[in-house]
Amino acid sequence: MLRIAIIIGSTRPGRKGEAVAKWAYEIAQRRRDAEFELVDIKDFNLPLLDEPMPPIMGQYTHDHTKTWSAKIASFDAYVFVTPEYNHATSGALKNAIDFLYGEWVNKVAGFIAYGGVSGARAVENLRLVMGELQVATVRAQVGLSMFTDFENFSVFKPAPMQEKAVNFMLDQVVWEGGHPFWRGETDLQTVLSMLLGK
Ligand SMILES: Cc1cc2nc3c(=O)[nH]c(=O)nc-3n(C[C@H](O)[C@H](O)[C@H](O)COP(=O)(O)O)c2cc1C
Repeated sequence: MLRIAIIIGSTRPGRKGEAVAKWAYEIAQRRRDAEFELVDIKDFNLPLLDEPMPPIMGQYTHDHTKTWSAKIASFDAYVFVTPEYNHATSGALKNAIDFLYGEWVNKVAGFIAYGGVSGARAVENLRLVMGELQVATVRAQVGLSMFTDFENFSVFKPAPMQEKAVNFMLDQVVWEGGHPFWRGETDLQTVLSMLLGK
C-alpha cells in the first residue's frame, strides 16, 4: 500500500501548521487507497544543516540526519503543510528538505498551504525546490486563507469546501504515486503490486 507522509512544515511556538496538518490527517485517514502518517519536523530536532558532505552523496555522519533519512525514505509520497514566510516556505522546512537528497528522488508531492493569499507563493517556492529533487508534484493544491479559513486570523476554522480540496489533491497524489512506470521504476513485481493495491 502506498505510504504518504503529511509533513508539518513549521516549528515555531504557537504555529498554526499543527492544527492544519492534523485536520488534513483526519481527512486522509478516512481514505482506503493509501496509508498516511503525520510527520512533524519539530520532533527530529534538526539543527541548521551540519553535514560535511553534500546530501546527494548520501554519506551522513550525524544520528539526527540518519533518523530523518530513514523516516523520509520510508514513504512513497509527501504532502507538505507549509506556511508562507516572506513569500516562500519556512526556513525550517527548507532546511529539513536540504538535509537529504536521494530519499526524495522519484517520489510524489502535494501541498497544503496557508497565508494571506492562501500560501500560494510558498507552494510556488516549494515546487522549484521539488524540481531539483526530482519529485513529481501534483497540480491540485490546498490553499487556506487567513481571511476565510481562520477565525480572527488565528483559530483554524476551514471552510467546508476545503475538505473536498484536500481529497482532490490526495486523489492526484495517490494516482501519481501509484504509477511507478511513469517514474522510471522497472521492477515488474513492484509495479504490479502497486497497481493491484497489494
Ligand atoms: C517570518 C514570517 C513571515 C511571514 N511572511 C508572510 C508572507 O510573506 N505572506 C503571508 O501571507 N503571510 C506571512 N506571514 C504570516 C503567516 O502566514 C502566519 O503567521 C502563519 O500562521 C504562519 O504559519 P505558522 O503559524 O504555522 O508558523 C509570515 C509570518 C512569519 C512568522
